[in-house]
Amino acid sequence: MQITRTIPELRAALAGYLRPAFVATMGNLHDGHLALVRQARALGDVSVASIFVNRLQFLPHEDFATYPRTLEADCARLQAAGCNVLFAPAEEVLYPEPQTFKVLPDPALADILEGQFRPGFFTGVCTVVMKMLSCVQPRVAIFGRKDYQQLLVLRQMARQFALPVEVVAGETQRAGDGLALSSRNGYLSTEERAEAVQLSQTLQAMAAAVRSGERNLAAIETRAMEALTARGWKPDYMALRRAADLQPPKPGDALVVLGAARLGNTRLIDNLEIPTTP
Ligand code: PAF
Repeated sequence: MQITRTIPELRAALAGYLRPAFVATMGNLHDGHLALVRQARALGDVSVASIFVNRLQFLPHEDFATYPRTLEADCARLQAAGCNVLFAPAEEVLYPEPQTFKVLPDPALADILEGQFRPGFFTGVCTVVMKMLSCVQPRVAIFGRKDYQQLLVLRQMARQFALPVEVVAGETQRAGDGLALSSRNGYLSTEERAEAVQLSQTLQAMAAAVRSGERNLAAIETRAMEALTARGWKPDYMALRRAADLQPPKPGDALVVLGAARLGNTRLIDNLEIPTTP
């Protein structure tokens, strides 16, 4: 694997390839990221990963300063997964001057759910991903379904700017008990880690209620919020939405159930797609 730190180094490493396939990450890699890298290997003639902790997508009170930076271990894991090229720019390389031009996503999609609780988050994500796509110029970019709303926002960005890249979804990887793999799982204490599975189990219970024909979606959401709160969580939202655009669903729409909740000091998110409503 070639490790590149600057845009010219990256471009030189990719010269001559016709179909780079790209996975953007903030590092602290787990098996979920590595599954995306393996997908990139299958979809492109060269696989490229980036590691960059993007200041623009963190609110002042969030964990930008403490976000785990584990470059050496990440390189070993990428190498083992068969990644060909890593782009790991320093902040001065990606943002040599203050990034005053930003990509402003559609508020209908980006100011709800995650965007409501993390204002500006998707502007930061879109801006860095646009810049990464401009540096790497991939034909395929793979983003995990674990960040379902991010996947939809980035798909819409690629479509509306006619970016010459195909956005492909990667499946969520889960631990044996069902907890979605996430870099932030590393913040959990042993007791919290045991409890954390309740988030995916609550999403499962919401999906089961829909599948069993329950029509009052607001009641299902309220029950889920109350169930987590009773166990000591602080849920931001537990929401049943239309899978295509995260708007309130109409009968017959494919649904997704999304949740975000804080366990101790750690904020976890997860989602589950429900292909058809009964
Ligand atoms: O999903 C992430 O890790 C980040 O939001 C991304 C896409 C790498 C942009 O910084």
